[in-house]
Amino acid sequence: MNTMFDDDTVGKGPIRSEQYLTDEAGTGHVIGREAELHAIRDAIQPLTKRETPANILVYGPPGNGKTTCVNTVFDALESKTRVKTIRINCWQYRTRPALLTEILIQLGYPAPRKGKPVDERLGKLREWLDRNRSVAVALDEFDQLEDNTEILYDLHMLSQQTENKLGLVLLSNLPPEEFVLDERSWSRLNCEMIEFEPYTVDELQDILEDRVEQAFLPGTVDPEVIERIAEDAADSGGDCREAFARLLRVGRRASRDGAEEVTPEYLGGVEG
Ligand SMILES: Nc1ncnc2c1ncn2[C@@H]1O[C@H](COP(=O)(O)OP(=O)(O)OP(=O)(O)O)[C@@H](O)[C@H]1O
Ligand SMILES: [Mg+2]
Repeated sequence: MNTMFDDDTVGKGPIRSEQYLTDEAGTGHVIGREAELHAIRDAIQPLTKRETPANILVYGPPGNGKTTCVNTVFDALESKTRVKTIRINCWQYRTRPALLTEILIQLGYPAPRKGKPVDERLGKLREWLDRNRSVAVALDEFDQLEDNTEILYDLHMLSQQTENKLGLVLLSNLPPEEFVLDERSWSRLNCEMIEFEPYTVDELQDILEDRVEQAFLPGTVDPEVIERIAEDAADSGGDCREAFARLLRVGRRASRDGAEEVTPEYLGGVEG
């Protein structure tokens, strides 16, 4: 037992950096999805001129680049414009007071004492928008939010009365018709829908090839391995995250075996 972890193959083998297959932040660049990136940018663009933007719902299956694309547009907003961005995962802030508090904290306010009324928090937000800059707010995993109709209504109404505007970007796996939100709320919000269709085999292959370049030593992954992982991922909803995880499993298996190349024999079954 005292030889446990002594494996001298650790650090050898075809993998250069696992981080590119595990880190949600990824590589910092998006492969494809140009139309979707442009649609998000165009909806938000009016904020850069202090005009009212289109609110948007970005929806589609897991691991298909929604968060990545919104983050890419938001990073550009932060670095190239005066628009302030706020990014919130609704899993963490599920109620109206919690969400409003988190927005205020990201705007630089100290955390308000518990129990402060919602109106007071909205008042602070109004004050910030009047005095400072336009704000783009991304609400990721939006379907996890309780009181979602009220929150959207609050923020949307507020933005109609303030000097600088607030734009909403909602992200979800669910299409609009599966939300509890009623028809009237959607139309009142003037919400534009941006659908992320599942990645095709070719798209997945391009994304995987780019990751392989970062994560593995040059020429150590057999193209058939990439092809097969892309095909299986496309068959099961286009999830990139799953495809990266599988690539990592296969790479580790080859490393453990002391192999210099990741060949199809390391693939295992679809779950592999
Ligand atoms: N077009 C792409 N180019 C490069 N990497 C991508 C692309 N699409 C997705 N990824 C990568 O795949 C992983 C999952 O993507 P992302 O988190 O954006 O998916 P999502 O659609 O938000 O999924 P979920 O619905 O589960 O939140 C991330 O590591 C991301 O970097
Ligand atoms: Mg996401």
